[in-house]
Amino acid sequence: MSAIQLREGVWSVGVLNPALRVFDIVMESRYGTSYNAYLVTGGEKTALIEAVHKDYFEDLVSNIEEILPVEKLDYLIMNHTEPDHSGGVRALLDRCPNLTVLCSSSAKKFLTSIANEEFPCRVVKDGDTLDLGGKTLRFISAPLLHWPDSIFTWDEADKTLFTCDFLGCHFCEPSMRDTGIHPEFRRYYEAELLNYFNCIFGPFKPAVLDGLDKMPAGVELVCTSHGPTLSQSIGYVKDCYRQWAAPAVRPDGKKTVGIIYCSAYGCTRALADAAAKALTADGLQVTTLDVVFAAPETVSALVNACDVVLFGTPTINRNAPEAIWNAVHGVDAINTRGRAAGAFGSFGWTGEAAGMVQEQLKQLKFKTVEAPFKVCFTPTEADLTTMAEWARGVADLVKAPESVKPKAQKYICKLCGYIYDPETGDPDRGVAPGTAFEDVPKLWTCPLCGMDKAMFKPLD
Ligand code: FEO
Repeated sequence: MSAIQLREGVWSVGVLNPALRVFDIVMESRYGTSYNAYLVTGGEKTALIEAVHKDYFEDLVSNIEEILPVEKLDYLIMNHTEPDHSGGVRALLDRCPNLTVLCSSSAKKFLTSIANEEFPCRVVKDGDTLDLGGKTLRFISAPLLHWPDSIFTWDEADKTLFTCDFLGCHFCEPSMRDTGIHPEFRRYYEAELLNYFNCIFGPFKPAVLDGLDKMPAGVELVCTSHGPTLSQSIGYVKDCYRQWAAPAVRPDGKKTVGIIYCSAYGCTRALADAAAKALTADGLQVTTLDVVFAAPETVSALVNACDVVLFGTPTINRNAPEAIWNAVHGVDAINTRGRAAGAFGSFGWTGEAAGMVQEQLKQLKFKTVEAPFKVCFTPTEADLTTMAEWARGVADLVKAPESVKPKAQKYICKLCGYIYDPETGDPDRGVAPGTAFEDVPKLWTCPLCGMDKAMFKPLD
């Protein structure tokens, strides 16, 4: 890819990787990605914002050199130091002896260990500025988006915000502009945007809401570190993030329980059913899922939505089946505080699996009871009773959530008369029951006539 001018004195100089299908070992990237970097020139000084993965360093240099000799760079601003952006920093420092790095204090610590050398560095705090000569960059602290080191860089003169991973997407778009996405591919971009959010920002939803609020007013261009820059889609992507990061509303205040299991001959399923029956009878909201027949996204959504998660696993060759480990792997381990989990299962010979899973749940910082619950082959009636008590013991480790009363004001569509009721929401279109009308995403439209939110008025 060549350098692409985005604004007067602002170029995209990053590198496309259309063939990548697995990003950072764990994340599918069906439409490739790009390692974005930006060159910003003022009247006197020049800054590079982000570097790239070390494998693409020479491509970065060649793009920069379409504008100026790389040795002329004065500053490198690292909004975040994960090695997909910082891997090339050491080589850049070698090439540019006068380069000063600007980054947050935690970024300095990370970068020193990534580059394995000391380097000229200016640590910046929220509100600090960098004068390039007629163009001033301002730094905005944005911790946990998605690392502790994250910051945004705001170029007020160009109304351009550099957000690193925030609002980004693994989607290789050669024009580097959201306006360049072919209309046929727009839905794939939007699907990848959600996938990216879930993988990268899912564990940091409160920080996402803070980050949205910290974006300056009047942003016309958002330069992310993966995927196309945003101009026409800024409002859309912000609305999506706000919706995806919004806390779930549970008007009934019930504890939620997910029972995730698999069962070759029905014995572990019988235990799962006994737990479900007992906890439902106790007034908890229970969802049971056989992982063999559920999509991975469904499993991880359930695992991460519930106050209590019980994993039911048989033992095969002294281990839990892969489907169970995949379900455990889907745990958002950043946010298990205050939640409880436990493992149970039937076995034939040795029965290690439930203990192995239970140990992993402890390591993930779930609250757990002392031991897993295990039964040899077919559970007896007494075993099912004990299973129910064991499940109650796990559920008792967490408090019931506060009951949240939805704002009850109903709204009516002025065109067709459809009534939006906060109590029921519009779950088919992503609006959870209990969502007040003012919290419904801006892009939501009337399910009957398709008119937008502005066409609604309070129902008298
Ligand atoms: Fe794209 Fe968090 O690095």
